[in-house]
Amino acid sequence: MGVNLRGRSFLKLLDYTTEEIRYLLDLSKNFKDMKRAGVPHKYLEGKNMVLLFEKTSTRTRCSFEVAGYDLGMGVTYLDPGSSQMGKKESIEDTARVLGRLYDCIEYRGFSQELVQTLADYSGVPVYNGLTDMFHPTQMLADILTIEEHFGRLKGLNFTYMGDARNNVANSLMIVCAKMGVNFTACAPSHLFPAEDLVEEAKKIASETGSKITLTEDVKEGTTGAHVLYTDIWVSMGEPDEVWEERINLLKKYQVNKEAFANADEHAIFMHCLPSFHDLHTTIGQDIYEKFGLKEMEVTNEIFESSRSKVFEEAENRMHTIKAVIYATMK
Ligand code: CP
Ligand code: NVA
Repeated sequence: MGVNLRGRSFLKLLDYTTEEIRYLLDLSKNFKDMKRAGVPHKYLEGKNMVLLFEKTSTRTRCSFEVAGYDLGMGVTYLDPGSSQMGKKESIEDTARVLGRLYDCIEYRGFSQELVQTLADYSGVPVYNGLTDMFHPTQMLADILTIEEHFGRLKGLNFTYMGDARNNVANSLMIVCAKMGVNFTACAPSHLFPAEDLVEEAKKIASETGSKITLTEDVKEGTTGAHVLYTDIWVSMGEPDEVWEERINLLKKYQVNKEAFANADEHAIFMHCLPSFHDLHTTIGQDIYEKFGLKEMEVTNEIFESSRSKVFEEAENRMHTIKAVIYATMK
């Protein structure tokens, strides 16, 4: 039977089968080709989408906006402070109002339960634009970027270095398991993904013929990797006080040329962005003044090298988000 995602929300990849993810990746490639060839694709004219952001964003917000405009939709952006949600109006009431005004809702914020509540009460497709637990639209872009580069997914070795229990790492582990990519979390053990999620990922991996590995050992974790991936060491919503502890825990898990020396000779570097790889940010400056670090989760050398696919990855956010909106709204 063909894949039909009409009316579905996109809250986490655990809800999607390998075949459905495959369908979204193929659709993303079609949209990318159309965009590059200048072929108009206003397939959703007359539909409206609201973007609710309780945390800041560059890529996710702009990708949803451009995708919506390219599809011919009306788009409303609500920033972290300009809606009543959670302050004067409950999530349940907000969901029921927005579901009457809009055809779909994007939400970026804190708990996974909240985005689930929006979906349960609004009656329209809801897209998770990042919660503390998962960042599923990022994963579609990441896996598309890997497939474009290597021409395949199955059997590749993917290593995530850093805070391996954050939203990005959790989602990467699931998407790798679903797509038959071997996933390694290379991190201090108390920053490994939660045990129940690892168990779930291992179960999926056993069905797709891939492997989930957790290791504290950098040599073991990076040897033979086709992709070395990292994310910032302190995520949005975490208090500033955790920086010192996190730096001490994670500095040996920096993606640098020593890590690449263990990896496959064709290995690439990926990062969801934003990244602290130089001193051109206020937080980067602040960390330098307090702790003397000029670069954090990745060296500037690797970030700026030809191995780095981070801007291809960022562009793919828009094509993949467009595929999700179209597939669920058409
Ligand atoms: N990768 C990502 O989600 O970036 P933004 O925080 O800029 O949306
Ligand atoms: N883990 C990061 C991802 C940002 C796209 C955060 O939640 O801040």
